[in-house]
Amino acid sequence: MSSRRGSSTVLLPSGQTLTTFTKHSQDEEGLPHATKKTMADHLRKYEALFNLTPQRMRMVVEAFKESLELGLSKPNQVVPMIPTYVFGWPSSKEKGNYLAVDLGGTNLRVCLVTLEGEGKFQITQAKYRLTEEQKQDEGQKLFDFCGECLKAFVDTHRAEGHIGKDEVLPLGFTFSYPCAQERIDHGVLIRWTKGFGAPNTEGHDVVAMFRESLAKMSVPAEVVALTCDTTGTLIASHYVNPKTRIACIFGTGCNAAYMEHVRDIPKIAQLGIDPDMEMAINCEWGAFDSFEHENLPRTKYDQIIDETSNKPGEQAFEKLISGRYLGEILRLIICELIDEGVLFLGQNTYKLEIPYCFDTAFLSLMEMDPTDELLMIIGIFNHFFAVETTLAERQFFRALAKLVARRAARLSACGIAAIVSKMGYLDEGCSVGADGSLYNKYPNFAERIHEGLHDIFGEKGKNIVTYHAEDGSGIGSAIVAAMTKDRKTANIYPNL
Ligand code: GLC
Repeated sequence: MSSRRGSSTVLLPSGQTLTTFTKHSQDEEGLPHATKKTMADHLRKYEALFNLTPQRMRMVVEAFKESLELGLSKPNQVVPMIPTYVFGWPSSKEKGNYLAVDLGGTNLRVCLVTLEGEGKFQITQAKYRLTEEQKQDEGQKLFDFCGECLKAFVDTHRAEGHIGKDEVLPLGFTFSYPCAQERIDHGVLIRWTKGFGAPNTEGHDVVAMFRESLAKMSVPAEVVALTCDTTGTLIASHYVNPKTRIACIFGTGCNAAYMEHVRDIPKIAQLGIDPDMEMAINCEWGAFDSFEHENLPRTKYDQIIDETSNKPGEQAFEKLISGRYLGEILRLIICELIDEGVLFLGQNTYKLEIPYCFDTAFLSLMEMDPTDELLMIIGIFNHFFAVETTLAERQFFRALAKLVARRAARLSACGIAAIVSKMGYLDEGCSVGADGSLYNKYPNFAERIHEGLHDIFGEKGKNIVTYHAEDGSGIGSAIVAAMTKDRKTANIYPNL
């Protein structure tokens, strides 16, 4: 009998290419692996654990709404609902040259943005990868690194004539971690998220730390505004699509921002801001249900992730959704089945036992595998973890990836629904600008969010549409800096 062979090549997150080829699955009969029936039995168990019924989702939405309200009413609540001092929407008349620095979960990005008005702009940027050591190293060193990269970038653009010789450019600093702000160019880091742990930063004003680094290196830039990626995304998306009301990030972390009436932010009443004005709120919703864990459907795998993280108890919602954790959830399930003797009997599985070795991008590749034999999945397990798989196992892994990612998308829908319902956007409908690797790269993530919104709201759920947002941390941050300059020039709350 002749054996069939198929092959498939893919570009991996690491930049390597992976070509997989295999014989027909008949060749697998000799392997002492789990059968199709056992795998189907196990799958049913996980389906029950990860499934979210519409009814359960509505309960989450109600609890979520209460947390949002509480965060607006009093300081230091679980969901911090941070007033950003970004007053209202951009006018689309914002113009000029701005620098934007974005300290994200994975990269540092520095940008030169030229706002040309009417939703038009130009951007030039450079990206620097952050190492795991930098994320844990002394905080001031992290800001020094930002300063050094910015200096090199500005020097290059000066030499090329894009920045004037004596020009000091206004700068928007995107720092996407929860910061308590007293004004727009100030922010005390409440806690690190997304695995960062740099000491001597929590409890400190990160703008002051960044300014110190800029001064040390004589960088000709003036920090005008501190923003979060979500606030930047909200503003940038509205700049090009004025129907935008909410912005979300589904990436290494998960968060949302929206525009609130000042009269509905009781905790800043003492500032005496005109109650009819609007202000963007950075929800930091990743913290929803932290510590008490009363509302979210956590499985034992979620609990393990939480307990073994550098921040146990914190970011409960984010830990069920964001790209930093989904791969780890799947890995923990696989390890459980290895321990029970269901998977990979007789094979050396040490490579799978390393925490966080199973990248969320693998789940995405597994779901995208177009071949009947699931060649991509063979490649992943072979190449990265040195184990052989049967077709039944591969189908099981793919189904598991779908369960984990679908739950993440449906929980994301709960967060969006909470804001929509709180703000009364359902009848009129609204656009939600969304960004981040999960949203942009994970197959069907957006469709699953929309399906979730439909399950929560029925037909009206279709009025809420997510779309791929404008670059919040570059363009958005520059627009926020421009809005702030214009506001201060017009003497509107110049101290905020
Ligand atoms: C984390 C951060 C938040 C950020 C989000 C997405 O939740 O705390 O500030 O917006 O990740 O990057």
